[in-house]
Amino acid sequence: MAESLSKAAFIRANTRVTDVPLVPELKLYLADETTAIWQATEDQLEHIGVPAPFWSFAWVGGQALARHLLDHPELVRGRRVLDVASGSGLVAFAAVWAGAAVVQANEIDPFACAAIAMNEQLNRLGKHIDILSTDLLDQGREAIAPVDVITAGDVCYEAPMAARMIPWLRMHAAAGVTVLLADPGRAYLPKQGLTALAKMNVPTVADVEDDKIRSTTVWQVLPPS
Ligand SMILES: C[S@@+](CC[C@H](N)C(=O)[O-])C[C@H]1O[C@@H](n2cnc3c(N)ncnc32)[C@H](O)[C@@H]1O
Repeated sequence: MAESLSKAAFIRANTRVTDVPLVPELKLYLADETTAIWQATEDQLEHIGVPAPFWSFAWVGGQALARHLLDHPELVRGRRVLDVASGSGLVAFAAVWAGAAVVQANEIDPFACAAIAMNEQLNRLGKHIDILSTDLLDQGREAIAPVDVITAGDVCYEAPMAARMIPWLRMHAAAGVTVLLADPGRAYLPKQGLTALAKMNVPTVADVEDDKIRSTTVWQVLPPS
C-alpha cells in the first residue's frame, strides 16, 4: 500500500461505520478484526512493529465510560473535559453529547488523531473537539489548559503505559480535577486509590478480547495518599 495514501483514505479502506454496542448514540469507523488492519497499518507505514491500531476498536473501558457520561451528564455538563488516550474518540464524543463546555481529545498515534477527526464528523456533534497530539504523560499540570474532568478509557493494558498514566492522573486528581477511568480488570489497574462509581457488562467488539462480554468498572481516581 502506498505511503502516499492519506490517513483518511486508509481509515475508510480498512474500517466500516459501525454502531458502538453499549453506546448506540454513536457510530465509529471500526475494524472487524485485528490482524488485517494491523498488517495494513504496517504496510501503510512501510515498516513492521508499528503500534497496534487501537483507534479502530471501541474498547470496553471506553464504551463503559462513554455510557456512564451519557447516563450521568451532570458529571460533565458545562465543564471542561480532557479525554486522554482517546483512541477512536468515543469518550470525548460522549462528553460533548452530555453537554460539556469544552472537550479535548489527546492521542499520540497520528492515525488515531485522524480517526477522531473523522468520527467527530460522522457523529455531527455540532461542537468542535480539540485534538492534542503531544505526549502529556511525563509533563506537569501546566502542560494542559485548565480542565475540570479528565477521562481515561482502558489505559491499564500494559505496564509502561500504566506506570506513566496512573501517577499523571493522580497528579491532576490532587489538583482538584475529577478523574474518571474505566477498566475491565486489566493486569496493570492499580489495586488501591480508586473509588467505584458504576459497573456494567460491556459487549466486546471484533477479536480484541477473549470474552464476548466484559464486566467493566467506572472508577474515580483518587489523589496520591
Ligand atoms: C486501549 S486504547 C483505548 C482507547 C479509548 N480510550 C477507548 O477506550 O476506546 C489505548 C490508547 O492509548 C493511546 N496511547 C498510548 N500511549 C499514549 C500516551 N502516552 N498519550 C496518549 N495516548 C496514548 C494508544 O494510541 C491507544 O489508542
